[in-house]
Amino acid sequence: MTPETQHMRFLIINGPNLNLLGTREPETYGLETLHDLAGQWRRRCSALSIGIESFQSNHEGAIIDYIQAEAGRSDAVIINPAALSHSSYAIHDALLAVDKPTVEVHISNIHEREPWRRTSVTAPAADLVIVGRGTVGYLNAIDHLWASLSVPPTTEHYGDDDDQVFEFRAPSNPRGVVILIHGGFWRTNWARDIMDPLAVEVHRAGFATANIEYRRGPRSFETSTGDVSSAVDAVVANAGAHGIPTDDVFLVGHSAGGYLAIREATSRSTVRAIGLAPIVDLDGISAMRPDDDPVAAYLGGSVDDQPDEWARAAIRIDADPSIDLIHGTGDETVPIDHSRTLAASHGSVRLSEIDGAAHMDLIDPSHASFATLVAALGRSAS
Ligand code: DQA
Repeated sequence: MTPETQHMRFLIINGPNLNLLGTREPETYGLETLHDLAGQWRRRCSALSIGIESFQSNHEGAIIDYIQAEAGRSDAVIINPAALSHSSYAIHDALLAVDKPTVEVHISNIHEREPWRRTSVTAPAADLVIVGRGTVGYLNAIDHLWASLSVPPTTEHYGDDDDQVFEFRAPSNPRGVVILIHGGFWRTNWARDIMDPLAVEVHRAGFATANIEYRRGPRSFETSTGDVSSAVDAVVANAGAHGIPTDDVFLVGHSAGGYLAIREATSRSTVRAIGLAPIVDLDGISAMRPDDDPVAAYLGGSVDDQPDEWARAAIRIDADPSIDLIHGTGDETVPIDHSRTLAASHGSVRLSEIDGAAHMDLIDPSHASFATLVAALGRSAS
């Protein structure tokens, strides 16, 4: 990512018992200590020229005092209020009072744990809430705030649901329109914020970008594919309304978002799909995860229970859409062999292999794979 010339300062605040990370319920919170995490945050922030102050306390009043004292001199707040999330209206009010861009992070998925954990009373004071991604959620929070402050987007709605939105960024005289579709096995704990760094850097490469959300969760095949279609219509209309030419519209999808991008491009000849480590083999992904099958959850049952749904959902390339696949040889989440098989059987599918790249490297604009994405965008963009 391009370092900022203007120096930002972020606060990272952790509540009760998070000083015990590493030994505390490691099956839920992992083995990294707070000290390990602080090192990761410092490294990520330093790469982005962000100064960070990190603070942990087991005391509600101390957290409120810290927010009041420090937030005024900072650009953004990242907070894991821990158990205080479920009770502290005072922390909620402190966050509202200082009025800074705020991300609330929970390491675990509080929505899938005990009923009393499912409500965060502090969350309404945050602009974004990240749950259930493990400790990478803190890094996602840093990236999201960096992206939002560096190149602020406009948020557009394409439907009534909270998830029917996209964030739009347009440079002057864009070379084309790039629609970004995030992955995460169609599960709700992953959201469009993970594409924010890519959105900023693709924008800096001269393209208008729309980072879209879509409805996810169990049995979301119909809603997710329908939402992507509606979002593409809305992005094209929005670009047109801004006087942006829509001759070159790309759907850039990662992982499960790559699946959605390729499906959409096979039914609409006016857009081109670029799949970043895309899911193209539903049976193959299902077979890798028999105990927690994301495809069965997405399609509402196993292939034996729902054979028609699985047949309908399979990627089928009948016509001749031009599709680019970019995939890392070190991907352990979606094996590169899935992309190799698809490319080998369709002349219009071009595969670029990225030596050694892992699954998430493909959406990291500081990784070597980013140049391959920009080259693919440049091939047909004017
Ligand atoms: C937590 C979830 C809270 O319910 C819990 O009390 C914590 C940690 C998390 O990060 O998952 O201490 O905020």
